[in-house]
Amino acid sequence: MSNKMWGGRFTERPDAIMEEINVSIDVDRHMYAQDIAASKAHAVMLAAQGIITANDAKNIAKGLDTILSEIGKGSFDFKRALEDIHMNVESRLADLIGPAAGRLHTARSRNDQVATDFRLFVRDTIDETDRALAAFQQALAQRALEHAATVMPGFTHLQTAQPVTFGHHLLAYVEMASRDRGRFADARQRLNESPLGAAALAGTSFPIDRAATAKALGFDRPMANSLDAVSDRDFVIETLSAAAICSVHLSRFAEEIVIWTSPLVGLIRLSDKFTTGSSIMPQKRNPDAAELVRAKTGRVIGALNALLIVMKGLPLAYQKDMQEDKLGAMEAFGALSLAIRAMTGMVLDMVPDEARMKLAAGEGYATATDLADWLVRTLKMPFRDAHHVTGRIVAKAASDGVALHELPLKAMQAIEPDITRDALSVLSVEASVKSRTSFGGTAPKNVAAQAKAWLKRLEKERKLG
Ligand code: ARG
Repeated sequence: MSNKMWGGRFTERPDAIMEEINVSIDVDRHMYAQDIAASKAHAVMLAAQGIITANDAKNIAKGLDTILSEIGKGSFDFKRALEDIHMNVESRLADLIGPAAGRLHTARSRNDQVATDFRLFVRDTIDETDRALAAFQQALAQRALEHAATVMPGFTHLQTAQPVTFGHHLLAYVEMASRDRGRFADARQRLNESPLGAAALAGTSFPIDRAATAKALGFDRPMANSLDAVSDRDFVIETLSAAAICSVHLSRFAEEIVIWTSPLVGLIRLSDKFTTGSSIMPQKRNPDAAELVRAKTGRVIGALNALLIVMKGLPLAYQKDMQEDKLGAMEAFGALSLAIRAMTGMVLDMVPDEARMKLAAGEGYATATDLADWLVRTLKMPFRDAHHVTGRIVAKAASDGVALHELPLKAMQAIEPDITRDALSVLSVEASVKSRTSFGGTAPKNVAAQAKAWLKRLEKERKLG
């Protein structure tokens, strides 16, 4: 038998290979809830406009509710021969309510249907991602407050640079996550227009009310151009690019966790909850979750690239190529969701080795800049000269094999006679971080204030819901 949705023009069944390449039900079944919601809104509007009878609309709604619960329960029989979620639902509706089911597709096409469903799906994903990122920020800010004064080495070029606090480092990721949330919010705002009623590509001759279906589905307004409505996937691309940037942030943090937990570095420890052992080396404690967060970034960036490539050569309006938008995007969103939750778990789980952090913070003459700043402040030396003098003092300490604060005052005075005992007070790592009080700097009191401000802001957001 030919397909019952377009059997009029067709007499033969598709070839098996045709069916295999064409079918999308394994992927688009994940947006069944959105598909049914859009169909319900469409049916209500058709009845309100007098395009179908109130009785047919009532039966359609009832049938769609039955299908929603069947799919929810797992008792729905998805048929590959019916290609996609739209035709699976419509076909089941016909089994349930008879010929009235055939009226649901009046004044719409699968082209505006799929665009509507996927917008709703991506919108739901954005909302979930936002909630997950808020929880991630909450965990980071909480740990930052706890470690506002815990000194650790700050790095540039992965070389010990200047002491910072662990809290300050964690708050850096709160800021990144905040911009990520902003990007998702921007994407959400632009995607929140309804394609429904654009029909196949040209609109329809029926007196539909697109504003009504847009409103019923929580869209801000109907899309203004029917060709655009059915043929762009920029909303997916934009959301994937926000996801890609977000996953790059998570990946950098994951990489730091991998470095910090290495026995060579040993700045933090993860518990059994977020590590795995080795089947052969009994001593091993591997940061697999962090490694996988790092790796999943590849999927997200890959999905963004793949969809950009799918879209770049497509003329208006709908082309079947667009069916390939969903699998990669759904996998990417799933990977990102998992990555955010895994990072949140690790943030709550990690225990810094404070003694080692402090020791490492002072290694590599990390307070040399503090000495140079002292020379500028106290002796009114130009910074360039102070840099030079400090460089010579560091060289002396290095050749004597001692840390900067271990160098006798006399040795410093041999290089710069005006240095006084007061200079020694700036050489400890605690004094160093404490002095960094400039806005956005690492001073513990700045960090504690920032962490508290974030916790308050997140709490307020949560209350507003
Ligand atoms: N499964 C299709 C997709 O995801 C639905 C739209 C099909 N439209 C069409 N004219 N063949 O894109």
